[in-house]
Amino acid sequence: MKKYEEFKNYINDNLQKYFQNKGSYNKIIYESVSYSLNIGGKRIRPLLFLLTYNLYKKDISEVIEMALAIEMIHTYSLIHDDLPCMDNDDLRRGMPTNHKKFGESIAVLAGDTLLNEAANLLMTFSLKHDNNALVASNEILKASGPEGMIGGQVVDIINENKNISKEELLYMHNKKTGELIRASVAAAAIVANAPKEDIEVLNEFGKKLGLAFQIKDDILDVIGDVKKLGKNTGSDQNNNKSNFISLFGLEHCERECERLTNECIELLESLSKDIKYLKDLTLDLLNREC
Ligand code: IPE
Ligand code: IPE
Ligand code: MG
Ligand code: MG
Ligand code: MG
Repeated sequence: MKKYEEFKNYINDNLQKYFQNKGSYNKIIYESVSYSLNIGGKRIRPLLFLLTYNLYKKDISEVIEMALAIEMIHTYSLIHDDLPCMDNDDLRRGMPTNHKKFGESIAVLAGDTLLNEAANLLMTFSLKHDNNALVASNEILKASGPEGMIGGQVVDIINENKNISKEELLYMHNKKTGELIRASVAAAAIVANAPKEDIEVLNEFGKKLGLAFQIKDDILDVIGDVKKLGKNTGSDQNNNKSNFISLFGLEHCERECERLTNECIELLESLSKDIKYLKDLTLDLLNREC
């Protein structure tokens, strides 16, 4: 078993337990968030967080709350991204989307719950730790906000049925997907008290990986297999969205993913650390089918 699969099991166990046996008259909200959180997902962001932390510190259980918060923010973004007023998708992580299962009102509230609980986890963690925890939490929350993920989602939505410039497309991808991936890596390095120069290298690594990840997502939206992907293909085309494929074509995008991945690996190799597992994950993301 690869080390990151071991970490993934650890993340999954903790997510599974998190909302168990909670609630009374409001119980449905915990069922709804648990459903979306626990039906699957690659857990890339918390994995990147824990693997980066593990470059500097042994005991990943010290920072598991932060990893859970990151996955909660990501899952909230998926629930809202799938809503009829957004991408209007029916399938996610191989199952009906949250609003298909629980209705739109509960799906909106489920997204809100995950974001709120994530902030709560980060605050509680920061209260118990030093200033680095606060700086790392701030990094994650900024990356999720209107100058980060939400900003990218805004540009995505307002440009449906429009031709988008290369600059705006890059903004959209770097923000809607890149920022949370970058912040997952950067926050881990910060909370692990990594040297400043390492934080800078890892931040660059996270940026490039985040962009490669969304370009690959665009590729899979065109050539992916629904069964493996767990979500419907052709979503971007159905919504008349510009993406990397519509602007540059498939071949260019595949080359771009490879180029960015190589740059990611060069950055990792410039650190004097055991980067084997982060490198494995980076390469697996390039070759992923889901
Ligand atoms: C999908 O993210 C949405 C994007 C930001 C591209 P993932 O591909 O990480 O989805 P899960 O978490 O594995 O379902
Ligand atoms: C979503 O991008 C990015 C998010 C912040 C959720 P997409 O809309 O392309 O993600 P998928 O393809 O539905 O997973
Ligand atoms: Mg979308
Ligand atoms: Mg979508
Ligand atoms: Mg997509």
